[in-house]
Amino acid sequence: MEDYIRIGIIGAGGIARGRHIPVLKELEAQVEVTAVCDVNIETAKQAAVEFSHPFVTSEYAEVFSRVDAVVICTPNKFHAEIAIAALEAGKHVMCEKPMSMTAGEAQAMTAAASKSNKTLMIAYHYRAMKESQAAKKLIDAGEIGTPMVARAQALRRRKVPGWGVFTNKELQGGGSLIDFGCHFLDLAVWLLGSPKPVEVSGNTYNQLSSMPGQINQWGRVDNESFEVDDHVTGYVRFDNGATLLFETSWAANVKDDKEYCSISGDTGGVDLFPLEVNQAKHGMLMDSTMNWLPGEEEPGLLQMQNFLDAVRGEAELIVKPEEAVRIQQIIDGLYESAETGRSVQL
Ligand SMILES: NC(=O)c1ccc[n+]([C@@H]2O[C@H](COP(=O)([O-])OP(=O)(O)OC[C@H]3O[C@@H](n4cnc5c(N)ncnc54)[C@H](O)[C@@H]3O)[C@@H](O)[C@H]2O)c1
Repeated sequence: MEDYIRIGIIGAGGIARGRHIPVLKELEAQVEVTAVCDVNIETAKQAAVEFSHPFVTSEYAEVFSRVDAVVICTPNKFHAEIAIAALEAGKHVMCEKPMSMTAGEAQAMTAAASKSNKTLMIAYHYRAMKESQAAKKLIDAGEIGTPMVARAQALRRRKVPGWGVFTNKELQGGGSLIDFGCHFLDLAVWLLGSPKPVEVSGNTYNQLSSMPGQINQWGRVDNESFEVDDHVTGYVRFDNGATLLFETSWAANVKDDKEYCSISGDTGGVDLFPLEVNQAKHGMLMDSTMNWLPGEEEPGLLQMQNFLDAVRGEAELIVKPEEAVRIQQIIDGLYESAETGRSVQL
């Protein structure tokens, strides 16, 4: 491999343009975008103008011979197929979240990465946020003792994404859980120390978004054909006795939107966002807030830098594929539990 890493972008829509392309431009001393692919060739061409004459195609297989690594930004349905094809072609892969449509697909992706000995990273960017990095550092340093109970809430009051394919079950596999809640499942499980989930129970709702004339602040939603979840609750039990209380929504009757994660340990706790630490010390109950945190405002920068460093063999991945498989198992479990009305053993 040359000093710089040759990158191919596959899927040049919202997240490619909103995050990965600006980040790759900022990291241009280390990377060269040599191929841009989108099934819509005009979309690929529009994205390609950001770089110096990359190869442009609508066929993802044509990308592989021209790159060292790919960034997959297609709808969820194609993540596994494209990631496995890229890994089998000997390419490193950064794949957007969620890892895949199902845990079975996620396991197949992980197996392909092991077999090819190439890097596979899932873009769970909430881990790369500076508050999250700091929380992990504090937990690993023993500031809260043994993590036991996590609470994760990713709530929007009336913000169903009314663009793209977010409400298309066939292409995305679900709604608020697989799109938005997955970030907070991932963050909470990571902060708990990545224990193994063993039992999942939950429920899904979509009454609000199925109601004609419902308010939506993020574009138009076809209430009549709305087929995915807009609100999900869950409870996860882990093999080490830890538990997670979880709730996510695109639309719910709550006063405020909220992105919240807290971890209670046996000697203290952390809250996000913003980051706070609570402890019982010296006969006192103390709360600490952060005055300054290291890191960038754009988590995509740390995420991509970590991927590039891992590709060069210089760093461990912040998000390991086996961890993302477990998140996919929890997602599958929550959907199954909602359907069957029973808890699911993993
Ligand atoms: N990290 C985040 O917070 C975040 C935010 C938004 C989206 N995402 C994820 O990114 C992915 C893409 O979402 P988006 O909002 O950019 O969607 P989008 O619809 O804006 O873009 C997807 C692009 O992929 C193209 N495409 C579809 N099938 C393809 C194929 N087989 N090969 C090549 N191109 C193909 C489409 O033409 C489209 O241009 C999804 O998995 C989504 O969950 C992540």
